[in-house]
Amino acid sequence: MYQIYPLSFADSNGDGFGDLQGIVEHLDHLAWLGVDGIWLSPITLSPNDDWGYDVADYRAVQPDLGSLADVDRLIDAARALGIRVLLDLVPNHTSEQHPWFVESRSSRGAARRDWYVWADPKPDGSPPNNWISSFGGPAWKLDPVSGQFYMFNHLPQQPDLNWWNDGVRAEFDDILRFWFDRGVAGFRIDVCNLIVKDAELRDNPAATDDDDPGTRALGQRVVFNGNRPEVHDVIRHWREIADSYEAPRVLIGETPVEKSDELARFYGVDGDELHLAFNFPFITAPLDAEPLRLLVEATEALLPSDAWPVWTGSNHDMSRLATRWAGDDERRTKVALMMLLTLRGTPVLYQGDEIGLGDVAVAREQLRDPLGVKYWPVYAGRDAMRTPMHWRDAPGGGFTGPGVVPWLPLGDTARNVADQRSDPGSVLTFTRDLIALRRQHGELRAGSYSTRGAPDGVWVWTRGSRFVVALNLSESDADLDDMTGRISIATDRARDGEALSGSLRLRAWDGVVVER
Ligand code: NOJ
Repeated sequence: MYQIYPLSFADSNGDGFGDLQGIVEHLDHLAWLGVDGIWLSPITLSPNDDWGYDVADYRAVQPDLGSLADVDRLIDAARALGIRVLLDLVPNHTSEQHPWFVESRSSRGAARRDWYVWADPKPDGSPPNNWISSFGGPAWKLDPVSGQFYMFNHLPQQPDLNWWNDGVRAEFDDILRFWFDRGVAGFRIDVCNLIVKDAELRDNPAATDDDDPGTRALGQRVVFNGNRPEVHDVIRHWREIADSYEAPRVLIGETPVEKSDELARFYGVDGDELHLAFNFPFITAPLDAEPLRLLVEATEALLPSDAWPVWTGSNHDMSRLATRWAGDDERRTKVALMMLLTLRGTPVLYQGDEIGLGDVAVAREQLRDPLGVKYWPVYAGRDAMRTPMHWRDAPGGGFTGPGVVPWLPLGDTARNVADQRSDPGSVLTFTRDLIALRRQHGELRAGSYSTRGAPDGVWVWTRGSRFVVALNLSESDADLDDMTGRISIATDRARDGEALSGSLRLRAWDGVVVER
């Protein structure tokens, strides 16, 4: 799968923002690359307080991006190329401008009052409990209209829905069907671990030294404003809706939980919840053999036997893998891509990963992300990983017209699709060839994973009975024994096809796929 951040993929109408028609015009790139499915970050109506993750109408397309007719055209054009289209579903919260919230806040007795999480102040006027928003500060805002607080897990402009309310549940059933009926092949579900809140609004317990770094930084454990066990009933129900369609519909959860057993739980006890769940401990791990191997082993051990892992190294919230994992070193980018594309599971590439696109520095006055605006210079926010795609080395980068100022800076376009397509040694050619190899061999797609012994800094595993993957994630050369067969693909392309009769020397950051 391949994640598209629509605002930054391709601008077809010269307004500096990417759009749906831009995606249609670049489907040939994705088909050539070998992508099976694309997930689009939100395309629905939004005032863009959080760039689409604040939805004002779940059934209408953001006019800057296009129209419903454009979505239909995109689905059809993608289908013709064997590519399925997944959308982003944001069920935890809406925009404060959503008509549901406008109505809900109008009075204590409003018909949709209970669609959001409202509570009285404490006697001293302070918020109803100690919950903290993931974006920092209290998770409550006093609304002068009624004198009650409403609750939000992100920005105050993103009030959280009340998932105990049957009307909310019924509405989302309908939203799922609305898009499934149009031919959408599935959803990536935003913060799907957070949507249900404690019915009694109890205080979160304080973090302890034993907690993971995220929890320690927040200062409290998210056990009552999210991560409720009841969320699984909601997901199980969505799975029933997805499964009621003849052609497969996929649910892939944004599941930012810290432990592999919690992640496993989202696949359902009987495989009846999410089809796929993003593995955040893996994304945030360093590009080191031991921590990554341990995470993969834990995931393999804890996921139900028929569950299917997801491996990803970048998204619109995280520094891009070419920067975070690879420090702009192409050897490391390639070895990271080899890892993603040869582990057992679904690799999800983020737009630009295939050319080794790194983060682009965004000056303070150009910031778009509310988190960057709020926390600069302590935290520059998420704009650096949302900058436009590089299609060509030209003014506008092939993203937009030559005279147009893109919504976020382009950065240096020397690393771009057009140049890399014609370069046999490029990251892009490598990514495409790896995907093609995976397509060619069932064992690379579905064969079991098994770790093999390896020197420090090296990670070696088998896929099925015929393939061995060996990655040297270190700065030193490494010698491996018992490597026989033929190299199908190597990060150093000069070694493709090399016959092995026992030993194999890998240089720093070399990776190989060997067919025995
Ligand atoms: C996770 C999304 O990926 C992020 O971009 C967004 O800000 C939050 N959820 C809130 O929707």
